[in-house]
Amino acid sequence: MTKNFEKTLLKKSFGSFATGVCVATSHSGGFTVNSFASLSLEPPLMIFNIYKTETDHVSFLNLGHFAINFLASDQKDISNLFASKDTDKLSKVKHYKTENNIAVLDNTLGHLELSIFQQIDIADHVLVIGKVENLAINENKEPLIYYRSNYREIK
Ligand SMILES: Cc1cc2nc3c(=O)[nH]c(=O)nc-3n(C[C@H](O)[C@H](O)[C@H](O)COP(=O)(O)O)c2cc1C
Repeated sequence: MTKNFEKTLLKKSFGSFATGVCVATSHSGGFTVNSFASLSLEPPLMIFNIYKTETDHVSFLNLGHFAINFLASDQKDISNLFASKDTDKLSKVKHYKTENNIAVLDNTLGHLELSIFQQIDIADHVLVIGKVENLAINENKEPLIYYRSNYREIK
């Protein structure tokens, strides 16, 4: 099949879909994610993807548990930190550890604590399906939005 569009246009098209911003965290680090989507209420499942070329997905997934931290509108710096190649990101943000030794960031909109339900290798990505084991919500915060390569806030 012939593609009748350029990769840059495809990237721009995908980027036209506004998303929230979260940080996926493990025991030792984390990275910024906007590929989060809810999958199912029963069982309680979510999905996101990891770009294998950029992220050490093996060490991220090896405990079998992780957390998704939904960033608030005043947490742009945290998004940039976790999208960077800094080797000690967690030491630079306030966080605590769960019973499973997974880092949960402070002052977010809320977070999910998850176990790995399934992981599927697709080309240079791994699609992770997580099962929600615990959660918390902060109703008093507004979300950070990512749209066309820029951060926005809901006005
Ligand atoms: C808004 C935003 C969304 C991102 N979403 C994802 C994502 O869903 N999956 C992914 O693998 N990388 C995503 N990234 C890129 C990673 O955060 C980036 O590759 C990070 O540097 C990886 O960190 P590491 O090298 O410490 O693992 C995103 C970056 C930004 C700024």
